[in-house]
Amino acid sequence: MRLHKLEKWWLILGVSALIMFLVVLGFGAFYMGTHPQSHGLTIDPNNIEANEAFQKENLGLTKVDTDHYIVNVVASAFNYDLGVDEDGNSVNHIKIPKGASVLFQVVTTDVIHGFNIAGTNVNMMVEPGYVSSMEVQMNKVGEFTLLCNEYCGVGHHMMFTTVEVYE
Ligand code: CUA
Repeated sequence: MRLHKLEKWWLILGVSALIMFLVVLGFGAFYMGTHPQSHGLTIDPNNIEANEAFQKENLGLTKVDTDHYIVNVVASAFNYDLGVDEDGNSVNHIKIPKGASVLFQVVTTDVIHGFNIAGTNVNMMVEPGYVSSMEVQMNKVGEFTLLCNEYCGVGHHMMFTTVEVYE
């Protein structure tokens, strides 16, 4: 049996499109160290304070070292708890010096929330029972909006705060 000439070309086209698709998919999935979460850190969503990082006094921004910070956040409908300042007022703004390396650690006490600092590559899903963490270097100066990008209820659109990276 002989293949029709055009039929052969269509077969080649189909197979190459499939190979190209798999290459793009494989590259996109692992490019720059991106990989699926392999060692999820768990936490009891009803007792997050059992983890020292999420005790009231450890929330918000903490300087660990020169140019090295940790930001612990408790997300809940419809707020990001960043702790309190010296006067006991809730903190709703994070200020980070340019170039600092920041480890964000976020948990939720109720439903799934998002943790996205628009304009940066900080973008995590926060699931009950897990600690979502990500370390990034904040190199872009400016004021960014930290917002929830997972629909979490009627107040979802009000769930945001600001992050400022200063020179
Ligand atoms: Cu929290 Cu949407």
